[in-house]
Amino acid sequence: MTRPTTLSDSFGRVMRDLRVSLTDRCNFRCLYCLPETEEAANFYRTKFDPQRNPNPPTLRLPDWKPRSEILSFEEIERLVRLAVNLGIQKIRLTGGEPLLRQGVEILVGKLARIPGLKDLAMTTNGFLFIRKAEALKAAGLQRISFSLDSLDRDNFKKITGRDGLSEVLTGIDRAQELGLNPVKVNAVIIRGINDHEMEGLAELARKRNLSFRFIEFMPLDSGRAWLKDLVVPGREILRRLQAKFALHPVPCAHASETARRWAFEDGRGEIGIIAPVTEPFCGHCNRLRLTADGKIRTCLFSLHEHDVKGLLRSGASDEEIAKILRGIVWQKEERHHIGEPDFVQPERSMSCIGG
Ligand code: GTP
Ligand code: 5AD
Ligand code: SF4
Repeated sequence: MTRPTTLSDSFGRVMRDLRVSLTDRCNFRCLYCLPETEEAANFYRTKFDPQRNPNPPTLRLPDWKPRSEILSFEEIERLVRLAVNLGIQKIRLTGGEPLLRQGVEILVGKLARIPGLKDLAMTTNGFLFIRKAEALKAAGLQRISFSLDSLDRDNFKKITGRDGLSEVLTGIDRAQELGLNPVKVNAVIIRGINDHEMEGLAELARKRNLSFRFIEFMPLDSGRAWLKDLVVPGREILRRLQAKFALHPVPCAHASETARRWAFEDGRGEIGIIAPVTEPFCGHCNRLRLTADGKIRTCLFSLHEHDVKGLLRSGASDEEIAKILRGIVWQKEERHHIGEPDFVQPERSMSCIGG
């Protein structure tokens, strides 16, 4: 059988979305991703249950990749150009924290000029955004998503390990002023940590006309402390928010959307519920990921990564790389197995994979 020239997998899904991690480093230490603080250690100690999780949680930070192993802007640009020729339409720049990558606006400028690329977005923790906002917009960034898990200064610090609430809120304002719309804001909800803040976060969406998404906690934390009990199911989040706000369903724009969306009665702002654990959306997944050190991951939960940096650095032609990419995507996993007996958490945490 001859395969089409798009990136399609053996389940009939066609890839349109490539998420590119620019660095494995981060200036935050979120509980659900890259915990480091004493607060995080205490939280994990109280939740650890050896019956259900044989590996004790760890606060070991990853070994940061040396500069020489990180893809250069030229290498990223070449891969993105190739991917766009193979049908990729959206690029989302992630990390770690992508704004830690020096000259990130130069890369944005290079990518924005690639013919055929329809959407160029970024996911950031927002702490450094204010310094780069104008440059990113001028370079051609179209959209941005922030992480914001709490509106309480102390709880924000407990969750992220950093005292950065006001910087993030200022960053969100600036993104809206610059028209990087729709500005999306993500909160990972963890039972006993920030589930009491859901209504307040939804209120922020209405007040500031934001797209605010509540995300179920996934087992991608470097501490390996994820437990099902810590997940607040999307249905529970919705019930809680419906008790306080009149919400109207927003029709799905694309089958591959991660969020189920709801609008407020007065039409200002919306909320999204992303429930990969209790209501998986793998059947329509059109996403691929490229790590900062040049590996393709065909699923957030892939146990195997495919090296493309070696190809780039050994003189492979565009045609050769395209052929290999098509072969990699053909093997994309059907779905994740979170919560099933055969589930194995990937070696690397979200901080290396990109959200
Ligand atoms: P755009 O469509 O580009 O606006 O992005 P999005 O709405 O898909 O959202 P975004 O990329 O910001 O992802 C939001 C969150 O959804 C991520 O931080 C992850 O927690 C989760 N997520 C995104 N993609 C996947 C995926 O492929 N699988 C799973 N299980 N979760 C995902
Ligand atoms: N579960 C769910 N979402 C996560 N993110 C990071 N770690 C996790 C996790 N364990 C998401 C956050 C952040 C983005 C980069 O990835 O929403 O905004
Ligand atoms: Fe938090 Fe994102 Fe950094 Fe992980 S990569 S620690 S989620 S800001």
